[in-house]
Amino acid sequence: MKQDPRFPNLFILNHPLIQHKLSHMRERDTSTRTFRELLKEITLLMGYEITRDLPLTTRQIETPLVTIDAPVIAGKKLAIVPILRAGIGMSDGLLELVPSARVGHVGVFRDPETHKPVEYLVRLPDTTDRIFILCDPMVATGNSAVHAIDVLKKRGVTDEQIIFLALVAAPEGVQVVQDAHPNVKLYVASLDSHLNEHAYIVPGLGDAGDRIFGTK
Ligand code: URA
Repeated sequence: MKQDPRFPNLFILNHPLIQHKLSHMRERDTSTRTFRELLKEITLLMGYEITRDLPLTTRQIETPLVTIDAPVIAGKKLAIVPILRAGIGMSDGLLELVPSARVGHVGVFRDPETHKPVEYLVRLPDTTDRIFILCDPMVATGNSAVHAIDVLKKRGVTDEQIIFLALVAAPEGVQVVQDAHPNVKLYVASLDSHLNEHAYIVPGLGDAGDRIFGTK
């Protein structure tokens, strides 16, 4: 795990498997099917890292031989919240890791002119005593990420209950998220160079939603 001195709550998951798979995803000619499979594989690897600090407690269980106090994840239950639509490409992998997690949805699209998020759907599970993993492959301007975090916080979710998981981020977007929500932890596979004039991440991988779903 790597950090950038500019962004104290940004964690870059630079595991070789994650980096190798991401490079393949970036390639222009990678097929929709492969892109989707790689995203799921990366999400599984990232999910493993971001759940590393989940608190454990013990529960008494009986093995065929003895009774033991066995470690189980304590208290807080997980909710996975993809930001539609590209976030769905990541929530599938996370659900394989934590099949009993609740799933919420935040639907936001980017106004092509203003690049500001326009909300069209919010459905969330009960927010008490839960850890929310918000996911969106790209943090570009950061506006959708800030909006989704706002949505959770308006419902009483605290900074400490939120983990934001993305594949690729632009420094401009991370700055926006950090300014608005300095205490929310953001995990990414790569912090790229910059945003271009159309608010695409460079070098990036193009439009993540289009590449996951095979649309144009
Ligand atoms: N959204 C994407 O899918 N790609 C970008 O580069 C920026 C925003």
